[in-house]
Amino acid sequence: MALLNREDWYDLARATNWTATYVTEEALFPEQMSGARGIPMIAWETYDEPYKTTYPEYVAVQREKDAGTYSVRAALERAAFVDSADPAWVSTMQAHYGAVALGEYVAGVGEARMARFSKAPGNRNMAVFGMMDENRHSQLQLYFPHANIKRGRQWDWGHKALRTDEWAAIAARSLFDDIVTSRDAISTAIMLTFAFETGFTNMQFLGLAADAAETGDHTFASLISSVQTDESRHSQQGGPALRILIENGHKAEAQQLIDVAIWRSWKLFSVLTGPLMDYYTPVAHRKQSFKEFMLEWIVVQFERQLLDLGLDKPWYWDTLMRDIEITHHGMHMGVWCWRRTMWWNTAAGVTPADREWLEEKYPGWNRRWGRVWDVITDNLLRGDESATLPETLPLICNMSNLPITHIPGDDWDITDYSLEHEGRLYHFGSEVDRWCFQINPEHYKGHQTLVDRFLAGAIQPPTFEGALQYMGLGPAERGRDAHAYGWIEHFRKLRSAA
Ligand SMILES: [Fe+2]
Ligand SMILES: [Fe+2]
Repeated sequence: MALLNREDWYDLARATNWTATYVTEEALFPEQMSGARGIPMIAWETYDEPYKTTYPEYVAVQREKDAGTYSVRAALERAAFVDSADPAWVSTMQAHYGAVALGEYVAGVGEARMARFSKAPGNRNMAVFGMMDENRHSQLQLYFPHANIKRGRQWDWGHKALRTDEWAAIAARSLFDDIVTSRDAISTAIMLTFAFETGFTNMQFLGLAADAAETGDHTFASLISSVQTDESRHSQQGGPALRILIENGHKAEAQQLIDVAIWRSWKLFSVLTGPLMDYYTPVAHRKQSFKEFMLEWIVVQFERQLLDLGLDKPWYWDTLMRDIEITHHGMHMGVWCWRRTMWWNTAAGVTPADREWLEEKYPGWNRRWGRVWDVITDNLLRGDESATLPETLPLICNMSNLPITHIPGDDWDITDYSLEHEGRLYHFGSEVDRWCFQINPEHYKGHQTLVDRFLAGAIQPPTFEGALQYMGLGPAERGRDAHAYGWIEHFRKLRSAA
């Protein structure tokens, strides 16, 4: 039987809007869910997705991809790479799975919202594929760590992390809830697919895939590259939605949605991807620094895409340029110091060779963060581990849910950006975090950070141990130094030589 070419029938087949007669249009597409903003149906029908696929094509390609990834895993399973890998690389995988696997499932909820409620038929069609993509991503990224549970309980956090009130899990959930589950279909297309997926998942998946291949972890490299090929397709849903908003007089609102989503995504990646790239990946295997990745994938790419669409760079671009040199170093130090509150073993990543690399990539690193690591190293060399373990909780930002951190050492600039709203005092890690709150206080004002909960008496007993239990961290799950402090021996040798 002769088949028509896709381009001969595609536009007609996905023209699935009709005029409702049994119910009102508002009942079919409630504004709260569709986010049409008064723009008529006929305008939404002009939505033109740049990447077109059909169900038979989709299934054939996805089947191939899954077959490839699962067979790489099966073939390499006997080599048991995990058992011989650098412990910091094991931590990288555990951090990744915990933060990402169920996040993929949540992304599927966002796709489902677009698939049902977007007034643009093209958006609905692409989102059906996107929803299936995200299902595949969560299945893959739950299946792979599951095979390692026999090696230790921390692997179980691939499935467990986002269901707990562990602080990094709260931060991740807060972002996903903001840009995925609590917005209308069009805001989701912009915040999730345009802002978050276009730039940031590229960095997590392509950046880590490059590091994984260098490290010799071909299973992980093939897994996350397979995921990223879907992301690069369904992330293109935001662009056409933005075009329609701009053409219909909603540019300012579109810009604001992007500005919020980029900033909040950046903060989460500064605690997750930043440390993994610049401290956990063995120094010999680092392809690019986190800053270089940020510049290439976020700054250059986003700038071009935003300007092409007729939008502007976010108003805080200069702050972001400054912070990509700074934020993740403080986040990393905090994660290492509060290592007992993590579901992976934290790598310090500050051997003499690491420090040389850090100073080269981030000039001034030694006189800033290096000075704090000097004190930590001295304490460990004296055998005083307890001096490196904080017994209190840090001040946490009411927007990012991450510790408030700036530059220590010679260029000390620690600042708390506070705000009083309806009698409650909020703390923010930056002017931009505070701005996100100020433009939409109703959306955020009820949320309590881990420290808010501690102060409100929700954590009992009100001790560090009580907080660990509240976060769901059993004794065998709490993070330790990934190398059991082996890295300080480099300094002991250097000192005795001196
Ligand atoms: Fe995904
Ligand atoms: Fe996605």
